[in-house]
Amino acid sequence: MATIEIRDLRKQFGDFTAVRESSFTIEDGEFFMLLGPSGCGKTTTLRMIAGLELPTSGEIYLDGEEVSQKLARERDIAFVFQMFALYPHMNVRKNITYPLVSQGWPRNRIKAKLDEVAGILGIRDILDRPVGGLSGGDRQRVALGRAIVREPKAFMMDEPLGALDAEFRERMAEELRALHDRMGATTVYVTHDQLEAMQMGDKIVVMNNAVVEQFGTPREIYDTPATMFVADFIGDPSMNFLPFEGVLAEGASSVSLGGIETAIPMAREGARGRLVLGARPEHIALTDDGPLRGRVAATEYLGTSQVVTLDTGFGEVKARIAADRRMAPGETAALTIDGTRVTMFDEGTGRALRSELNEGVI
Ligand SMILES: Nc1ncnc2c1ncn2[C@@H]1O[C@H](COP(=O)(O)OP(=O)(O)OP(=O)(O)O)[C@@H](O)[C@H]1O
Ligand SMILES: [Mg+2]
Repeated sequence: MATIEIRDLRKQFGDFTAVRESSFTIEDGEFFMLLGPSGCGKTTTLRMIAGLELPTSGEIYLDGEEVSQKLARERDIAFVFQMFALYPHMNVRKNITYPLVSQGWPRNRIKAKLDEVAGILGIRDILDRPVGGLSGGDRQRVALGRAIVREPKAFMMDEPLGALDAEFRERMAEELRALHDRMGATTVYVTHDQLEAMQMGDKIVVMNNAVVEQFGTPREIYDTPATMFVADFIGDPSMNFLPFEGVLAEGASSVSLGGIETAIPMAREGARGRLVLGARPEHIALTDDGPLRGRVAATEYLGTSQVVTLDTGFGEVKARIAADRRMAPGETAALTIDGTRVTMFDEGTGRALRSELNEGVI
């Protein structure tokens, strides 16, 4: 069990900066997601936490103790490289107990530990089977078993489900999360899949271009994005951006969107120039009358809802509305934005402006 604190962590490979002044805290027992697009520095961050890569600067604290320059084996963190990497010539029992045997544990303790772990994973009945003939799910359980037996302080998992097909992936994700909830071990999990991060994580760090864009619960990240990058990366379809030239006064509860007065959460900071009004598709209703109008370009029927794409004076806007409403391409409709859920951005910096909605979160 462990708390992991990352402070101003930086990693350079020659002139290239892979991780730039990263800071976040992973609480004891958390299932923690490192999320971001390919090449943003997720694996490098994970490897630094595990001690497989040393930081250029900054600190890592494990349970309050600074371990930044310590070797991997002195940190007691299990790095689950790839779930399917098993020793092919050994049976299940030997695969799982290998780390204990090589650490010289006495046989009776190994036996007791194996029994406990096999019980947690539900694989007592396959212990004598060769790993070659196992199903994907069982192989994954065995690989996990090998990581668990050591009782590490924390688990690092780098896209463990990456190679799986969608259906199996979802099942294993649920199983991993349930396993975590039974064991309560601090887990850091890397993924580029925003849905996986939202579904599984207690907390999420969103990275982009070597930088931590935001750190928070799935709800905080989704409802109150700190940057336009986060607002765009999280959610499917992602947040709509309506850019305009204007003024936002501190304390204001509306903005003039190209002459259309639009409600927003009360602004805690002012801005002027190129601004962006951000609204999630489910916070836009379509009605018959209203000043903000759009022409239906496409509809996507999803069963429980539908996503309607409209061409507006502010570009393309997507609205998620009830599935039973009939909308035909070419038809016009008025867009009503839920003013309590809007996030305003400064287009130049891409940063969210502080408001009554996101105050204290971003
Ligand atoms: N040993 C290295 N030497 C030089 N550059 C490296 C090294 N390791 C990583 N990089 C670079 O650092 C950047 C971040 O790499 P990293 O593997 O951390 O990204 P990632 O977020 O895990 O991406 P992916 O989703 O593709 O796995 C990449 O541009 C990568 O090419
Ligand atoms: Mg990676």
